[in-house]
Amino acid sequence: MEFDRRIRIAPSILSADFADFGREIAAIEAQGADWVHVDVMDGHFVPNLTFGPPAVRAFRKHVTTFMDVHLMIAPVDPYIEAYAEAGAEMIVAHVEAGPHIHRTLQAIRATGARAGVALNPGTSPEAVGYVLDLCDMVLVMSVNPGFGGQKFIPSSVEKIARLREMIGERPIHIQVDGGIDPVTAPLVAAAGADVLVAGSAVFKGGSVATPEVYGRAIRAIREAAEAAVR
Ligand code: DX5
Ligand code: ZN
Repeated sequence: MEFDRRIRIAPSILSADFADFGREIAAIEAQGADWVHVDVMDGHFVPNLTFGPPAVRAFRKHVTTFMDVHLMIAPVDPYIEAYAEAGAEMIVAHVEAGPHIHRTLQAIRATGARAGVALNPGTSPEAVGYVLDLCDMVLVMSVNPGFGGQKFIPSSVEKIARLREMIGERPIHIQVDGGIDPVTAPLVAAAGADVLVAGSAVFKGGSVATPEVYGRAIRAIREAAEAAVR
C-alpha cells in the first residue's frame, strides 16, 4: 500500500451484526469502505470484551481491502505475534497500556505488520513524540475507548492539529476513532486526520439486506471530510 493522505473511511465492525461478520465485511467493502477496523478489548484496559486472535483470523478471510486491528488490551506485548499471525496488517497499541511503548512498536514491526500508536482523550500528543519514527499511524481516540456510539470529544481536533505539525512530511497516517459522522468528519479532516473510523454512523439503520444504507453513510462521511481539505 502506497502512502498518501487521501481520506480513508474505516468502518468499525464493533457496530456490525456479531452473528454475521463475513457478510457484514463484504457489505461495507462493496459499499466503499477503504479499511476494515477491528476493535480488540480485554475487559481490563477497557470495560468491554471483544475479539481474540481466532476471531480476527476468521474476519481476515473476508477482508479484501486492509484490516487494522486496534488493541485496547494490557499487557499488549504477549499477544502481538498472535494477532499478526491472525492476519492483522496494521496493529495499533495504546501508549497508556504499559511502560514500554517503544519496545511494543518495535515488536509489532518485527512481525512484518505496520505499527500504530493510540492516544486516549486524556493523553497529550507529546507522549508519542519519541516513537513517531517507529509508527505508520497515530490513532487519536475522540471518545474514551470501550464502546461504540459515544459523543465526540471536541478537544480531539486540536490534538490532531498538533500531531499533524509534529509529523511534518513523514509518511505517518493520523487516524481518528470515536463519534465520527458527517458533522465531525470535516473538523478532524481539516485538522489533519486522514483515516476516519466510524462504527455507529456507518452501521446504524442498515443490514446486509440493506447495504445501500452503509454506502450512503460512508459516502456522506467521505464527502464531508473531503470538502474540508479541498
Ligand atoms: C471504541 C472503538 C471505536 C468504536 C467507534 O472503543 O475504538 O472503534 O467502534 O464507534 P463509533 O463510531 O460509534 O463512535
Ligand atoms: Zn477502534
